[in-house]
Amino acid sequence: MDDLFGEDRTFLPLDPGACLLGGFALANGPVLLDAIATIAAVAPFRHLETPGGRRMSVAMTNAGRLGWVSDRRGYRYDEIDPCTGKAWPKMPLVFTELSRHAAATADFQDFMPEACLINRYEPGAKLSLHQDRDERNLDQPIVSVSLGVDARFLWGGEKRLDRPRRIILQHGDVVVWGGPARLTFHGIDTLDLSSHPATGSFRFNLTFRKAT
Ligand code: SIN
Ligand code: FE2
Repeated sequence: MDDLFGEDRTFLPLDPGACLLGGFALANGPVLLDAIATIAAVAPFRHLETPGGRRMSVAMTNAGRLGWVSDRRGYRYDEIDPCTGKAWPKMPLVFTELSRHAAATADFQDFMPEACLINRYEPGAKLSLHQDRDERNLDQPIVSVSLGVDARFLWGGEKRLDRPRRIILQHGDVVVWGGPARLTFHGIDTLDLSSHPATGSFRFNLTFRKAT
């Protein structure tokens, strides 16, 4: 769909190797949200501690063989959920298929996600500019699915100080970045207090990665 500025949101290039696929996951919204609830019943959302000792405002959990975790010792992927001492819940087939389809649409063939980080933002939560660089293999893209309340995605550059663009991410939007854009700094601006029929005041984000 075209917006006022004539941009095609169904395939909006952000940079070489990066694009927004507006509404790509819209039809899967209810199934994805059901799956998130099922996963969170086993591996609950929690506010992780940063290596510097701060509590993250975004609550997180994971699905898949590996999960992304943070604590005083650093950031890493782990097969075990430190909260439960058990393996993370399996990645639902709909997650795997959606992320592979999105990657292929963005011209990254044969994406095979091992980890799905699930972020839950409440009003006031934010994610500062960062690079996704805890993965051993940077050849594979990042696939990021937005659900619920709108967010302002910060899309920066190769350097932390590059001034970020702000892109509104809506329920059902997918962003894919890899290749020359794989280490682009990105983040989420402070979430506004608002409401979405499917998620109330929350925003959820699924981030699919090949971690090893
Ligand atoms: C992330 O960078 O890990 C999440 C981005 C988002 O919530 O859209
Ligand atoms: Fe990230």
